[in-house]
Amino acid sequence: MKGNKTIFLSPPSVGARERAAVKRAFDSGYVAPCGPQVDEFERRLAELAGRKYAVAVSSGTAAIDLLMEELGVDSSWTVVAPTLTFIATVGPAWHRGARLVFVDCDETGNIDPNLLDEALGSIRVKLGSDRVLRPKIALTITGPKSTLKDPTQTLSDPKILVIGVDLYGACCDYKALTAICRRHSAKLIIDSAEAVGATRDGRPAGSAGLAAVYSFNGNKIVTTSGGGAIVTDDRALAERAKKRAQQSRERCTWYEHREVGYNYRLSNILAAIGIAQLDRLPQILRRRKANFAWYARHFEGDVMVPGECANHWMTVGLLRSRRERDALLARFAKAGIEARPVWKPMHLQPVFAGCRVFGGEVAEALFDRGVCLPSGTDLTPADRRRIASVLPSRS
Ligand SMILES: Cc1ncc(COP(=O)(O)O)c(C=O)c1O
Repeated sequence: MKGNKTIFLSPPSVGARERAAVKRAFDSGYVAPCGPQVDEFERRLAELAGRKYAVAVSSGTAAIDLLMEELGVDSSWTVVAPTLTFIATVGPAWHRGARLVFVDCDETGNIDPNLLDEALGSIRVKLGSDRVLRPKIALTITGPKSTLKDPTQTLSDPKILVIGVDLYGACCDYKALTAICRRHSAKLIIDSAEAVGATRDGRPAGSAGLAAVYSFNGNKIVTTSGGGAIVTDDRALAERAKKRAQQSRERCTWYEHREVGYNYRLSNILAAIGIAQLDRLPQILRRRKANFAWYARHFEGDVMVPGECANHWMTVGLLRSRRERDALLARFAKAGIEARPVWKPMHLQPVFAGCRVFGGEVAEALFDRGVCLPSGTDLTPADRRRIASVLPSRS
């Protein structure tokens, strides 16, 4: 439609508050990946997640990568994740040579706990027969004792990591996943990249597992343009991750390194944007929820119902077939409106062709039939009218 601006899928909602916050950070002199805004942002994130510690980094992917490093994930590990997710959930484990196993979702789009139970049972039987579980070199721990690299734990336990994902802003079943992982001696972390501000059974997104990660990418519910965080109750993990994110520099006047780290810390300027966004989080959540309610009224097919306490980062409409999905996407494109298919399941990705998958049909059906609908915080009535003219009508 000529003359109309593109309506994006999930553009950042930023304005005067964020601009003023950036100016304040700039004027503070901390134009660097450290400073008072980073410290405050971390305090606020820990509070939001109901965790003791937060470590702010340059992206959600960097946060996951740091967690892989903390856990010591390498080619002797099996990493189990939902097949319906974004590749960043498993990319860092793949880079470290871990064996990836994918598990189907249920109709909510989140990992199916029963299938996860089955997958872990089957993996444990296999690992039990391999018996290559003992690290050859004892792990050295410096600083406070961590729940992750406790040698008494890793010496006898299979190296299995489950990464739960809070898909499209709806928390996965933390209670079920925690119990299942405990039963199978698997470690659990949560990829809450899309779920900032959501809750499940009264618990905030990011509050389960050894640690969880958030993303503050430009398309996320809270943005810093690009950024991420680890949230955890494990002090040792938080301290080590923070150090590793700063090239693992030792505390002394010269540059001393006992290990090689990364440059993953979040910029102080970007943290300032994040603080301004957190101040507005209740308003952002209200508007995203209103989008969902609007689609539920106006979309002819079904919309995926993510539960009461999702953050409604993304509203997903379900068509009857892949053909209908593609027809709707074509109408959106013609009207200058961005919409996308649901994540293509990981087990269908050429790069993961050799990986095992438990189930897969539910995720495939969601991919075939699902459309991520424009879900921006600042959708206007005029935007909605344009979207409505493209949607399959209820009448
Ligand atoms: C489920 C999921 N995990 C991880 C990420 C990675 O976050 P980032 O883009 O900040 O690296 C994203 C977002 O892009 C995501 O949607």
